[in-house]
This record gives sequence, C-alpha cells and structure tokens, in this order.
Amino acid sequence: MKVCLPLTSCVLTLLFLLTTGSTACADSDIFSQPVEPMTTLECARCHEQVFTDLRDHGGAHKMVCRDCHETFHNFSQKLTWQQRVPACSNCHDYPHGESATMSACLDCHSNAHAPVASLNLAVFEPLCAQCHEQPAKEMALPSAHSDMGCIDCHQQRHGYRPKCTECHEQPHSPFVSSRDCMQCHPVHNVSVLLYTDSISNSACAGCHDKAGSDLQQGHLAHALLNCTFCHAAEHGAIPTCQDCHDTPHSADMLKGFDGCNGCHGNPHNLLPGS
Ligand code: HEC
Ligand code: HEC
Ligand code: HEC
Ligand code: HEC
Ligand code: HEC
Ligand code: HEC
Ligand code: HEC
Ligand code: HEC
Ligand code: HEC
Ligand code: HEC
Ligand code: HEC
Ligand code: HEC
Repeated sequence: MKVCLPLTSCVLTLLFLLTTGSTACADSDIFSQPVEPMTTLECARCHEQVFTDLRDHGGAHKMVCRDCHETFHNFSQKLTWQQRVPACSNCHDYPHGESATMSACLDCHSNAHAPVASLNLAVFEPLCAQCHEQPAKEMALPSAHSDMGCIDCHQQRHGYRPKCTECHEQPHSPFVSSRDCMQCHPVHNVSVLLYTDSISNSACAGCHDKAGSDLQQGHLAHALLNCTFCHAAEHGAIPTCQDCHDTPHSADMLKGFDGCNGCHGNPHNLLPGS
C-alpha cells in the first residue's frame, strides 16, 4: 500500500533522520554489532587520576591500560588485590637485586602509574647506601656534615643536586657551582681539604684576589699556568724562581741586584720586555 505524505513532512522526516542518526531499526541493530574493548580514553572517564598520572609522570609506563591490565573489574570477594592487578615481575626482573627490601617494588616506586616521579625519598633514605656505597662511606666519617641525612641535601626528588649556597650564604669564594667548591671540599667529608693540581685559578682568587688579578693581566708565559703548578704540593707552599729556571743569567749580571724580582718584578705580573 502506498502512503502519501505531504512534501513538507517528507522533508521533516529526512531532517530528523539526518540530525539524530538513529531509528528504531538502527536501535535493534546494536545487538548485532561486536562489543569493542574499552579504549584507554574510555577507562579514563572513570579513572581520571590514573590517566593524568600516566600522562604527566608515566615515563616509560605511558602505555595503554590494557598493555598492563589484562583482567580487572572482577569484584569477587575471593580475589586478593594481587590477583586483580598486574605484578611488576610480569615484565621486570629484579633490577636492584633479589633481597627482600629490593623486591618490595612499591615501597619505593609508590605509584605504578608514575614509577619514577613517585619514588618516595623519606621511605628509602635508609637504603641510599645500597646503591651509593662511596658517598655513604664518606658520610660515615666525622665531619661538619656527618650529622646530616642524605635527604637534608638531596631533597625534593631522587637525584636532586643541591647547591652549597642553599646553606652557605656567603662562601669565601665567588660561587660558580658546587663542583667548583668540591675541588677543595669533598662534600661528603668536609673535614678533608683537598689540594690538587687541577684547582682552577678563579677558586684560589676567591681568597687571594690580588694574586689572581695580577696573574690574569700579567706576562702570558706565567698567566697560562695554574696557581697550583707553581704553588704545588700543599696550600701555602712558595717556590723559588730557580726551582724552574735554574740560573739563566751569568753570576756577573746578577751582581748588585736584589734577586730575580729586582729586574723581573712580580712573578704574578712579570715586567714587560724582561
Ligand atoms: C564506568 C566507570 C569505569 C570505567 C569506564 C572503568 N572502570 Fe575500572 N573501576 C571502576 C570502579 C567503580 C572500580 C572499583 C572502585 C575502586 O576500587 O576504586 C574500578 C576498579 C578498577 C581496577 C582496580 C582493580 C579491580 O579490578 O578491582 C582496575 C585495575 C581498573 N578498574 C581498571 C580499568 C581499566 C583498565 C578500564 C578501561 C579498560 C576501566 N577500569 C574502566 C570504574 C570504571
Ligand atoms: C605499566 C603498567 C600499567 C599501566 C600502563 C596501567 N596500569 Fe594500572 N596498575 C598497574 C599496577 C602494577 C597496579 C597495581 C598497583 C598497586 O598494587 O598499588 C595498577 C593499579 C591500577 C588501579 C588500582 C589502584 C589505583 O591506582 O587506583 C587502577 C584503577 C588502574 N591501575 C587503572 C589503570 C588505568 C585506567 C590505566 C590506563 C589509563 C592503567 N591502569 C594503566 C600497572 C599499570
Ligand atoms: C606490562 C608490563 C609492565 C608492568 C606490569 C610493569 N612495568 Fe615497569 N616498565 C615496563 C616497560 C616496557 C618499561 C620500559 C622499558 C624498561 O625500562 O624496562 C618499564 C619501565 C619501568 C621503569 C622506568 C621508568 C622510566 O620512566 O624510566 C620503572 C621504574 C618501572 N618500570 C617500575 C615498575 C614497577 C615498580 C612495576 C610494578 C608496580 C612495573 N614497573 C610494572 C613494563 C611494565
Ligand atoms: C629501595 C628503593 C627501591 C626499590 C625497593 C625498588 N626500586 Fe627500582 N629504582 C629505585 C631508584 C632510586 C631508581 C633509580 C631511578 C633513577 O634512575 O633515577 C630505580 C630505578 C628502577 C628502574 C629503571 C632503571 C633501571 O635500573 O632499569 C626500574 C625498571 C625499576 N627501578 C624497577 C624496580 C622493580 C621492578 C622493583 C621491584 C623488584 C624495584 N624497582 C624496587 C628504587 C627502588
Ligand atoms: C635502587 C638503587 C638506588 C637507590 C636506593 C638510590 N639511588 Fe640514587 N641513583 C641510582 C641510579 C641508578 C642513579 C643514576 C646513576 C647515574 O646516572 O650515574 C642515581 C643517581 C643519584 C644521584 C645523582 C644524580 C645525577 O645527577 O647524577 C644522586 C645525588 C642520588 N642518586 C642520590 C640518592 C639518594 C640521596 C638516595 C637515598 C635517598 C638514593 N640516591 C637512592 C640508584 C639508586
Ligand atoms: C651537605 C649536603 C650533602 C649531604 C648530607 C649528602 N650529599 Fe650527596 N652530594 C652533595 C652535593 C653538593 C653533591 C654534588 C652536586 C653536584 O655535583 O652538583 C652530591 C653528590 C652526590 C652524588 C652524585 C655522585 C657524585 O659523587 O657526583 C650521589 C650519588 C650522592 N651525593 C649521594 C649521597 C648519599 C647517599 C648521601 C647520604 C649518605 C649524601 N649524598 C649526602 C651534597 C650532599
Ligand atoms: C643542606 C645544607 C647544606 C648544604 C647544601 C651544604 N652544607 Fe656545608 N654545612 C652545613 C652545615 C649545617 C654545616 C655545619 C655548621 C656550619 O659550619 O655552618 C656545614 C659545614 C660546612 C663546612 C665547615 C667545615 C668545618 O669543619 O668547619 C664546610 C667547609 C662546608 N660545609 C662546605 C660545603 C660545601 C663545599 C657544600 C657544597 C658542595 C656544602 N657545604 C653544602 C650545611 C650544608
Ligand atoms: C681553593 C680551595 C677552596 C675552594 C675552591 C673553596 N674553598 Fe672553602 N675553604 C678553603 C680553605 C683553605 C678554607 C679554610 C679552612 C680552614 O680554615 O681550616 C675554607 C673554609 C670554608 C668554610 C668554613 C669556614 C667559613 O668560611 O665559614 C666553608 C663553609 C667553605 N669553605 C665553603 C666553601 C664553598 C661553599 C665553596 C664554593 C663556593 C668553597 N668553600 C670553595 C678552600 C677552598
Ligand atoms: C709562575 C709561578 C707562579 C704562579 C703561576 C703563581 N704564583 Fe704565586 N707566587 C709565586 C712565587 C715565586 C711567589 C713568591 C713571591 C715572590 O717571589 O715575590 C708567589 C707568591 C704568592 C703569594 C704570597 C705573596 C703574595 O703575593 O701575596 C700568594 C698568596 C700567591 N703567590 C698566590 C698565588 C695565586 C692565588 C696564584 C694563581 C692565581 C698564583 N700565586 C700563581 C709563583 C707563582
Ligand atoms: C678560603 C680562603 C683561601 C683559599 C680558597 C685559598 N687560600 Fe691560600 N691562604 C689563605 C689564608 C688565610 C692564608 C694564610 C694567611 C696569609 O698569609 O695570607 C693563605 C696562604 C697562602 C699562601 C702563602 C702566603 C704567604 O705569604 O706565606 C699561598 C702561596 C697560597 N695561600 C696560595 C693559594 C693557592 C694557590 C690557592 C688555590 C689553590 C689558595 N691559596 C686558596 C686562604 C685561602
Ligand atoms: C713552577 C715553575 C716556575 C716558577 C717557580 C717560575 N717560573 Fe718563570 N716560567 C715558568 C714557565 C713554565 C714559563 C714559560 C715557559 C718558559 O719560558 O720556560 C716561565 C716563563 C718565565 C719568563 C718569560 C720567558 C719568556 O720566554 O718570555 C720569565 C722572565 C720568568 N719565567 C721569570 C720567572 C721569575 C723571575 C720567577 C721567580 C719570581 C719565575 N719565573 C718562577 C715556570 C716557572
Ligand atoms: C739584571 C736584571 C736581571 C736579573 C737580576 C735577572 N734577570 Fe732574567 N732577564 C733579564 C732580561 C733583560 C731578560 C731578557 C733577555 C733576553 O731577551 O734574552 C731576562 C730573561 C729571563 C728569562 C727568559 C729567557 C731565558 O733565558 O729563558 C728567564 C726565564 C729569566 N730571565 C729568569 C731569571 C731568573 C730566574 C732570575 C734570578 C735568578 C733572573 N732572571 C734575574 C734581566 C734580569
């Protein structure tokens, strides 16, 4: 039988179909479609915190949920938590050794969705020595720093490198970097004062500013040398010219002069032309 609608209602029906995209026929089609697994974005609608943790701090764990979670949402009382969630050992060996402490992954990596960012400093401070033997050994020796815990300095996050000036406001040397200070003060044992031949001239000049600026402007031949090349072996050592130059002039020539400096001036700033 032929039903004849007025033209306007045909147009209206067509518009309705276009805008809603569904009809009674399509509704019944749903049950003939395959059920697709939820996507990561769909999981995120309910587990938004997990999603943002992964997005902002996931690091190498920034993967789709199902890479890790194969089974979930089985709310049976009989299942333990371990049976509901993946185990680290599904994918990892024991990267830090198999001792009981080092096997309790979540004690330190406290959020599986932010495994590095969630490293909990306060919890694992007693265990720093397990991975950093040398600094721990040095810290055990008596010094002005040995009352401090590792995280008094290495605070905020694992691997944080403090600046000396966070605590020593006005060091005697102009501050460039902790590494500069550590040329003389090994930070994990400050009772030791190092004196090596690689200390930079600017570090000495922090206390000996005249010698420092003289040498910088002085005769190139000496200005190219390290303070510690001449003042070798220990702090305060003073060389003689002859240690390096023997006797370049005849005894006759030197007669009547007050040593080498009488003609050459200051070793940090040799007179020009000499
Ligand atoms: C409609 C909301 C909703 C969606 C979508 C959803 N979940 Fe859940 N999920 C929950 C609720 C509610 C719980 C139980 C509440 C709780 O324990 O915090 C839960 C618990 C979990 C747990 C805890 C362990 C367990 O099985 O009880 C995991 C893992 C999990 N969901 C993973 C996922 C993954 C993966 C997806 C996407 C594939 C997903 N969820 C999608 C609501 C949702
Ligand atoms: C790299 C593997 C990995 C990925 C990727 C991952 N998870 Fe997890 N998830 C885990 C592990 C391991 C646990 C168990 C942590 C625990 O026991 O505290 C867990 C626990 C959970 C829990 C329960 C505890 C909690 O933190 O709320 C939920 C819910 C969850 N995951 C949802 C998700 C969702 C949603 C996604 C994707 C957006 C996702 N996970 C991606 C490994 C992963
Ligand atoms: C489904 C597999 C899977 C599971 C489960 C899993 N991981 Fe991972 N994880 C990976 C992969 C893949 C990488 C990247 C490659 C690598 O470093 O081994 C990774 C990397 C890491 C990293 C380095 C992260 C970075 O950004 O550099 C840490 C830390 C880590 N995982 C800890 C854990 C801990 C702790 C658990 C348990 C709570 C866990 N993982 C569970 C697969 C997994
Ligand atoms: C005592 C604390 C602690 C425990 C326990 C611990 N980790 Fe770690 N983990 C760390 C620290 C600290 C790092 C170094 C992070 C970095 O490189 O900045 C690390 C790094 C990692 C890395 C990335 C670098 C690498 O060595 O490959 C992975 C993967 C990892 N841990 C997995 C695990 C797993 C799996 C477990 C349990 C079997 C575990 N961790 C237990 C503290 C711990
Ligand atoms: C599970 C082993 C592990 C533990 C526990 C651990 N670390 Fe580390 N740490 C590492 C690894 C791996 C590195 C990276 C080494 C590298 O890059 O040379 C590192 C690097 C560092 C660095 C240097 C970062 C840089 O820029 O080179 C500092 C500082 C540090 N850790 C301090 C600590 C302190 C403090 C603790 C205790 C709260 C601690 N670590 C506990 C493994 C560990
Ligand atoms: C008084 C502050 C202070 C304390 C306390 C301290 N450190 Fe350090 N640590 C530093 C400074 C400063 C550096 C060098 C930073 C740089 O190079 O910029 C450093 C460097 C490191 C490094 C990097 C490796 C290296 O030798 O360059 C590791 C690892 C480290 N410390 C571990 C520890 C551990 C473990 C403890 C506790 C046993 C500890 N530190 C206690 C200040 C401290
Ligand atoms: C988190 C704070 C902190 C940081 C960072 C720190 N120190 Fe100290 N330092 C102290 C404290 C506290 C003392 C003991 C009290 C004092 O003398 O001021 C001290 C004492 C010292 C002393 C005196 C030793 C003595 O026997 O009188 C030296 C030298 C020193 N620190 C050098 C350094 C150097 C170099 C660095 C950086 C590489 C550094 N400190 C980083 C807190 C810090
Ligand atoms: C060239 C070697 C050298 C360098 C580099 C150096 N110092 Fe010193 N520092 C010394 C000497 C020498 C003393 C005096 C020690 C004494 O009196 O026993 C000293 C003393 C100190 C003291 C204790 C006395 C005081 O002034 O409070 C602190 C703290 C200190 N230095 C911090 C620093 C810091 C921070 C740096 C980096 C900016 C630094 N030092 C760089 C050699 C050095
Ligand atoms: C070429 C070798 C040489 C170099 C390089 C050198 N000195 Fe000297 N310095 C001497 C000699 C030699 C004396 C002995 C004084 C004299 O004969 O007039 C001396 C004396 C000193 C004195 C004590 C007398 C005075 O002038 O205050 C200080 C302090 C000193 N030097 C610091 C430094 C510092 C700091 C540097 C680096 C910036 C430096 N020196 C580089 C050779 C050198
Ligand atoms: C913390 C400050 C400080 C630093 C850094 C420092 N000195 Fe000194 N230095 C002194 C003090 C204080 C004396 C003893 C007082 C004096 O005679 O000027 C001294 C003495 C000397 C003397 C002997 C001076 C004389 O007349 O007997 C020489 C040479 C010297 N220092 C060289 C150096 C060199 C080279 C460096 C860098 C490796 C250096 N100093 C770093 C503070 C410092
Ligand atoms: C630790 C070694 C050392 C000491 C001490 C030292 N010098 Fe030198 N001097 C050198 C070196 C190295 C040169 C550059 C190479 C060369 O000409 O032998 C140099 C260069 C010179 C030159 C310039 C040579 C030229 O070719 O222009 C003169 C002049 C000189 N020194 C004078 C002195 C006097 C004067 C003293 C003592 C006050 C002194 N030196 C102490 C190592 C030293
Ligand atoms: C009477 C002034 C006078 C005295 C004293 C003197 N010198 Fe010289 N010296 C000179 C002159 C001028 C030259 C440049 C000569 C030339 O161009 O060959 C010179 C050149 C040098 C040179 C560079 C040329 C070479 O032969 O290597 C050195 C090094 C040197 N003197 C070291 C010394 C030492 C060390 C003493 C002390 C033992 C000393 N001088 C004492 C005047 C003097």
